[in-house]
Amino acid sequence: MKALILSGGSGTRLRPLTYSQQKQLIPVANKPVLFYALEDVIEAGAKEIGIILGPNKDQVIDTVKSRTWEARIEFIYQGEPKGLAHTILVAEKFLDDDFVMYLGDNILRDGIVRHEERFRSLKSDASVLLTKVEDPQRFGVADLNLDGSIRRLVEKPKVPPSNYALVGVYFFKPVIIDACKAISPSWRDELEITDAIQWLIEHGYRVDASFVEGWWKDTGKPEDILEANRLILDDLKMKNDGQVDDSKLMGRVIIEKGTKIERSVVKGPCIIGKDTMISNSYIGPFTSVGHGCQICGTEVEDSIIMDECSILNAGKIVESLIGRNVKIQEGVSKPKGHRIIVGDNSDISL
Ligand code: DAU
Repeated sequence: MKALILSGGSGTRLRPLTYSQQKQLIPVANKPVLFYALEDVIEAGAKEIGIILGPNKDQVIDTVKSRTWEARIEFIYQGEPKGLAHTILVAEKFLDDDFVMYLGDNILRDGIVRHEERFRSLKSDASVLLTKVEDPQRFGVADLNLDGSIRRLVEKPKVPPSNYALVGVYFFKPVIIDACKAISPSWRDELEITDAIQWLIEHGYRVDASFVEGWWKDTGKPEDILEANRLILDDLKMKNDGQVDDSKLMGRVIIEKGTKIERSVVKGPCIIGKDTMISNSYIGPFTSVGHGCQICGTEVEDSIIMDECSILNAGKIVESLIGRNVKIQEGVSKPKGHRIIVGDNSDISL
């Protein structure tokens, strides 16, 4: 089986972070979201992986190449995001075998091995992963027959036919390429994968559903990224490769190499990346601090702080998503007040 992982698109719902960073590279528990997808498809047996690239293609290539992978990786440039089915057309030459398509901004707790085995044993033409959600309007939704087979798929319906959302993982036989060629762009001018799968159903091909039991997150919005961070941190094991002086560590704390913690309290689950300095601070549960950061005289809880940030005497920071190389510090000059230089579409609560 081959794998196609989608790492294109422009990530508009995650601005301003995505002005400078491809959304699938945003770290969750100090690992780019895209790496969770790569690990899942390799675990499920994929030996050849195509990665779809969009406008920030070099960033994605460099990040993927920063690690070794037990699979051959081919980068496929899509350019402008013209829809999930469009990525299949762009990758047509690569897709000469059964394959799993995995949206690079999705994270599944239990991976996809069980679903791959089911797809192979049923010998269906396509298999979609479904899970029950409270807000089906945000997703592709399946209308199911009484026997659990799929009657119809609709993309982000105003009136959802069920609570079963399409998880961003799909198994296909190469016939999906014919379906993607046969459909037309939707009202939002995208070639929708739901329309292509609907085409398979209407032309008598076998489309099955496989139900996801563990948690699943589409990290499309800031609150989803923070929630994914909580869920992943909750599953990590304690490790201390750093230096801790005059400090208290409580619960499951991961401290990476070259990091120093002084006169601080760190309460897990949390992760502190490489070569970071924490002093006179409190790092609370569900926090990921990246590599090369400096946090001094500050309390941080339930947040993601990306690499190379400097946070000095900044009071208490909660439920925040802070990009790379950000400086936050107590102002010392008069008049006293908040001095802020932030990019477009930022979101600040004082
Ligand atoms: O996450 C599950 C949902 O993903 C499904 O329930 C929906 O049926 C499916 O359409 C999709 O909806 P989204 O609105 O989340 O799709 P989004 O535009 O965010 O794209 C999903 C991923 O694919 C994202 O990592 C970007 C990438 N992408 C997207 C498009 C449209 C590409 O690489 N190229 C593209 O042309």
